[in-house]
Amino acid sequence: MTDPRLAVVILAAGQGTRMKSATPKVLHKLAGLPIVAHVLATARELSAAHVLAVVRHERDRVADAVSAALPDAIIVDQDEVPGTGRAVEVALEALPEGFDGDVLVLNGDVPLLDAATLREFLAAHRGGGAAGSVLTAVLPDPTGYGRIVRGADGSLERIVEQKDASEDEVAIGEINTGVYAFGLSGLRDRLASITTSNAQGEKYLTDMVAALRDAGSAVSAVPVAEPWLVEGINDRAQLADAAAKLNALIVRGWQLNGVTIQDPATTWIDLTVTLAPDVEILPGTQLQGATTVATGAVIGPDTTLVDCEIGERATVKRTDATLAVIGEGASVGPFSYLRPGTVLGRDGKIGTFVETKNARIGERSKVPHLSYIGDTEVGVGSNVGAGTITANYDGVHKHSTVVGSHVRTGSHNVFVAPVRIGDGAYTGAGTVVRKDVPAGSLAINVAPQRNIAGWVAANRPGTDAARAAAESGDE
Ligand code: UD1
Ligand code: CA
Repeated sequence: MTDPRLAVVILAAGQGTRMKSATPKVLHKLAGLPIVAHVLATARELSAAHVLAVVRHERDRVADAVSAALPDAIIVDQDEVPGTGRAVEVALEALPEGFDGDVLVLNGDVPLLDAATLREFLAAHRGGGAAGSVLTAVLPDPTGYGRIVRGADGSLERIVEQKDASEDEVAIGEINTGVYAFGLSGLRDRLASITTSNAQGEKYLTDMVAALRDAGSAVSAVPVAEPWLVEGINDRAQLADAAAKLNALIVRGWQLNGVTIQDPATTWIDLTVTLAPDVEILPGTQLQGATTVATGAVIGPDTTLVDCEIGERATVKRTDATLAVIGEGASVGPFSYLRPGTVLGRDGKIGTFVETKNARIGERSKVPHLSYIGDTEVGVGSNVGAGTITANYDGVHKHSTVVGSHVRTGSHNVFVAPVRIGDGAYTGAGTVVRKDVPAGSLAINVAPQRNIAGWVAANRPGTDAARAAAESGDE
């Protein structure tokens, strides 16, 4: 149910200088989704009446990501005045008319914070009757965060940014998580009074604490129960830390849902992946995008699947696959490379050192060894010989190969597309198939073999080969 008295403002206008990246910070990915998408997902869970996202740096890219994650979110453009305080100020101007209640401010770069923690924080804020509340934490390393300055009586006095802090203040272990709840009217009134006179020349939202206190309003500091939830991402090291923490949660979630995951430390699963009970995942596996794996399938070791659909009881070993569909009971790998458009039928096989692309390989059909199969359709129950190449590209256009059902092709064939091999046909080893092969035919086009007797003795006398031939007695 929607909470009509709650608006969420997500701050995502900053550049994220410390990432040293051409990509805006909040668009760097975590478990397959942009950082800001995680914050938007949490905001959605809170069922706020309004969610607003403040953007400026790389405005269109960030706005697109926000809308993709939460289409209802209101995009707010921050002007050239810098700082988190200004970001909230412009958001308030964009708040739909008639709203009255609490404004929950979230940083777009704090992705692990969950809705349950925020609900507790909101309840504490609302229950305490303060004009504003700040979620705080004691982190093992407070470097870079704003510090929470408490008065002699323990009450919250102000927040000081590290860059503006005295030596004593830098030593404070309690930090500002960047999460705040404010009653709308107090926030509106006091924000206007905040200036940019600080080390960074920015309008700091953190100055709201002192501003509210100076106006005689109560402001409370609410410590978070699980400090790791509020760690912000400012550089790539923090990005990797957050990714590892989120991945550990995702892995554990699937384990508790019946998935065997042998090695959580080397298994990486995007939030967008779906796994059935009794799937088994072996070490070194990455499951990404819209990948789904059905029950009984075994994935890995050392396998990357992007947007793949894996059927029941299939096995996929030491494989790299994108946009591939693997049928029930089928087997892939080891060392297979499946490119987009690969569809392997039930109980089929794509084996060792095989590359496929836009290839539909029918039920029980096999491409077991050392082949490239592209722009190809194979019927049911066929076997494609070791070392087969579909020559699908004539230098200008791509052409397709069609192999029928119950076909047996020889080793080391080239299928020069466009070409069709009929049902039940055979091809000899080493055949370069340039013409269609009718059903039930054997195609061969290698030159007949000639053996020139005594050639080694005549032309390579005195060699080990000549001696071995002579000693073999059947020269
Ligand atoms: C901010 C807080 C700090 C707190 C920390 C928690 C301020 C002044 N400082 O510092 O006390 O400990 O978060 O993670 O608020 N943003 C805008 N517009 C701007 C500037 C920033 O929308 O003009 C957004 C950024 O995109 C980011 C968030 O606000 O998502 C925080 O900005 P950032 O520059 O990362 O602030 P911190 O230095 O981390
Ligand atoms: Ca930050």
